[in-house]
Amino acid sequence: SEKKLSSARLSQPTNAFVEEFTASVQFDQRLFRQDIQGSIAHATMLSQVGVLTDAERQAIIKGLTQIETEIDAGEFNWSIAQEDVHMNIEARLIQLIGETGKKLHTGRSRNDQVATDVRLYLRDMIQPIRRELLRLQSALLDVAEREAETILPGFTHLQTAQPVTFGHHLLAWYEMLARDAERLDDCKKRLNSLPLGAAALAGTTFPIDRELTASLLGFDRICRNSLDAVSDRDFAIEFNSVAAMLMMHLSRFSEELIIWSSAQFDFVDLGDAFCTGSSIMPQKKNPDVPELIRGKTSRVYGNLFNLLTLMKNQPLAYNKDNQEDKEPLFDTIDTLLGSLRVYADMMAGITVNADNMRNAALKGYATATDLADYLVRRGVPFRDAHEVVGLSVAYGIKQKKDLSELSLAELQQFSPHIDNDVFDVLTLEGSVAARDHIGGTAPQRVRQAIGQARQELANL
Ligand code: ARG
Repeated sequence: SEKKLSSARLSQPTNAFVEEFTASVQFDQRLFRQDIQGSIAHATMLSQVGVLTDAERQAIIKGLTQIETEIDAGEFNWSIAQEDVHMNIEARLIQLIGETGKKLHTGRSRNDQVATDVRLYLRDMIQPIRRELLRLQSALLDVAEREAETILPGFTHLQTAQPVTFGHHLLAWYEMLARDAERLDDCKKRLNSLPLGAAALAGTTFPIDRELTASLLGFDRICRNSLDAVSDRDFAIEFNSVAAMLMMHLSRFSEELIIWSSAQFDFVDLGDAFCTGSSIMPQKKNPDVPELIRGKTSRVYGNLFNLLTLMKNQPLAYNKDNQEDKEPLFDTIDTLLGSLRVYADMMAGITVNADNMRNAALKGYATATDLADYLVRRGVPFRDAHEVVGLSVAYGIKQKKDLSELSLAELQQFSPHIDNDVFDVLTLEGSVAARDHIGGTAPQRVRQAIGQARQELANL
């Protein structure tokens, strides 16, 4: 079998299946760019401190650059025998530039190398995730603006509660996503710390300059403890918890979209491009995208638990267990990125059946609270007003009439404090317009909130 870089101590070749079983190159090869970037920074630092000559540095960089080109072109020969992305690249470097290639690993271990690569990779991937999230946030604001006056029933317990504007409802989603965006930025700050220099676990005897390596790689800080640097994966767990929360939000929105696009609600149309038909039922238009996102949320939760459990009983410092951090982390990144992307695209094309929303709000006595508030303004204590309205609703249900459809005389049976102006507050439009304060559902407040949100996004 192929000559390994790390096997001199071992007198027997690795069992063929063990070789395959312990290898990670099948999935960690996606770290190649960060691995090369890290190696170039390491070699540059080594030459600055006099451990490598400048000619050696140049040869190493040239070799690594060629390797990157080979990988990009799909011409690189990944080998299970070389175990992982790091050894594959180092072995190829030695093949390409000879003896000098063997000096790259001076003052370094795969333990600080892999920790660095994963941090760099995650940092790189947070960017497109953040971009897709931003696209979704803006799409939400566009629909919210268009539907600032559209009225639908707001629900509690999935029972009609009070009328709200659809714009306002979408802004609730926006707020959740805005916090997720903040959390992403925050976890990015914390992960941006350099492990290189920790070597295997104890540091190195060479006169390394970690500040230089950190600045070459765009790290804000240096991991301060070598044992922590190689064994910590909490940055990955933190990212995965942010991702889990974000997916939880998307899953919740999805649940609403699924309900709203049913024939029984028929509030929204997701667009044919985001739905699929049925192989047997010709009439079907299924909301597959939101359903899949609801489903994929469980993968991301699973990955979070995978990582938490992976770490919970590892003694310091590095253990091979850590190799298992990659697949869940990569899966979370891919799932989150894909989900945000499809959501942003779908949101831009969502259309609303305003009549159905309005009709639904007219059922279910959505303005009952408005009648109670009206009575309170006329001096009736709220508890008494609550009872008056409860009796009016019970009467309306028997008569099969909405509150706004009862006559003044009918309403006055329940309270002498009701006058003709009561009908202003019993309309849906009156009800939403009256909630005219910061955070309220009045169309003008919704427009104001959209303006502020747009400003926030523009200032990013
Ligand atoms: N492939 C390994 C990982 O993913 C790289 C580090 C291996 N280090 C070691 N001492 N075996 O964690």
